[in-house]
Amino acid sequence: MSVTVEPFLVERFRAALGRQTGLAFDEQRLGFLGDVLMRRLARLGRSGEAYLAALEHGKLPDEIAVLARDLTVPETYFFRHNDQFRALAERVLPERMRDGRPVRTLSILSAGCATGEEAYSLAIIFREAVDDPSWDIRIRAVDLSPAALEKAARGRYTAWSLRDTAPARRRRWFLEQGGELVLDESIRRAVRFEPRNLAAEDAELWNPGSYDVVFCRNVLMYFEPDRMRQVIDRIARSLAPGGFLFLGHAETLRGVSEDFHLCHTHDAFYYQRKDALHPPAETPPPVLTPARVAAEVALQLDGAFVDAIRGASERVAALMPGAAPAAAVPRWDSAPVFDLLQRERFAEALQAVRARPADLSGDPDLLLLEAMLLTHDGKIAAAATVCRALLAIDELHAGAHYVLALCGEHGGDIAEAAEHDRIAAYLDPGFAMPRLHLGLLARRAGQREAARRELTQALFLLEREDPARLLLFGGGFNREALVGLCTLALKDCGGRA
Ligand SMILES: C[S@@+](CC[C@H](N)C(=O)[O-])C[C@H]1O[C@@H](n2cnc3c(N)ncnc32)[C@H](O)[C@@H]1O
Repeated sequence: MSVTVEPFLVERFRAALGRQTGLAFDEQRLGFLGDVLMRRLARLGRSGEAYLAALEHGKLPDEIAVLARDLTVPETYFFRHNDQFRALAERVLPERMRDGRPVRTLSILSAGCATGEEAYSLAIIFREAVDDPSWDIRIRAVDLSPAALEKAARGRYTAWSLRDTAPARRRRWFLEQGGELVLDESIRRAVRFEPRNLAAEDAELWNPGSYDVVFCRNVLMYFEPDRMRQVIDRIARSLAPGGFLFLGHAETLRGVSEDFHLCHTHDAFYYQRKDALHPPAETPPPVLTPARVAAEVALQLDGAFVDAIRGASERVAALMPGAAPAAAVPRWDSAPVFDLLQRERFAEALQAVRARPADLSGDPDLLLLEAMLLTHDGKIAAAATVCRALLAIDELHAGAHYVLALCGEHGGDIAEAAEHDRIAAYLDPGFAMPRLHLGLLARRAGQREAARRELTQALFLLEREDPARLLLFGGGFNREALVGLCTLALKDCGGRA
């Protein structure tokens, strides 16, 4: 039977997969999805219409598991992002074991465990870090793909899976057998693997307060933003208060959740659940950050840049949850402040932003603007105070961390400055200024290799940086000037621009 797949059927397939698995497929992957769909139709001997109708109405209960083999990325290895495991051993486990619980068992979830390397790494860490036999661990490892879970349960790996595992660890926990590395039985017993869909309602998996630690790394980066928010919300509720969440290196909770504190130790970023959680959102707020809105507006605009900023401010205001439609209530107009900023009349801009109405005194965008203008005006202590107020509202605000880095440097605390820069760069990987600042700090400290690394990254980002952010954070320098400065510093450290 010959099967052709119309583009609208591929669209329906994409939408059904998004709803049921959370996975997002962008335009570039439609061809790939079309191939997967075509193979499935040929295999099942069904028409596209009949198959999709059944899939959409949940009449193919095992189908998602079958599709998972083609649609998911099972890439993983033992002790991936090893810094996070060090943080787990040296901070997280001791802290969780101090809470005086009656049953001495720690509970960990590896969500999106693929072929098991992450879950087994957790078990090994526990065995190595905890020598009190009265403590036990329960590791639950879940994944959408039954094929990956089958491999996980075998506990047999190739050397490639242990490419980042220290030789001593490898000797202690693995036995070579017929070209394979067989995991120690006691470690295998500590982990329970189960097929589960993180995107599904699952009261048992997300039992409130049931985990001490959740590892959900390199999974949600493949999810649609709203589904990611939903899963994070479930994770927050299923963690005990004070429990910890580890995400992948390229994943942050910025703009996703306010239920966690950011932690940064052992060169690793991770999160700790706050005691009190926000009520679950009925309709998730849109994932538009002010910077993204500004960039969008700027792209559509032929006229003055300041109008782009103004357009962005209006759209951001309209996007605020619960905001009245722009036409109904006249909002305070921040455009004159940006106009003054662009003309480098910083003191007047500061006066203007401080004269905003009282109901906007806690507005994060305006607090950031105020802090930045205070630094321009040399009022560093006041800028730091405003940033702290901003972080009390939005702990994951990359801009506030960057301004605190400038304040730290001004106060001579280079370590603190670099720490805030690193947090800003982690929270917003597209943000050029903290990279530039880190590069300049490293160069001054004679750390040429670190300087080269940061400045190379800064140069790449500066060329793509959002115009509104350059205006706000550029300290009066435009893009060309900042690129020039970065290029010079890079050459001075022996780098190539
Ligand atoms: C790149 S692997 C990450 C493995 C491991 N966490 C790590 O960081 O090394 C992503 C895994 O997420 C799983 N996954 C994707 N969507 C899922 C879903 N809706 N529910 C459960 N697992 C899912 C995939 O099957 C895949 O095995």
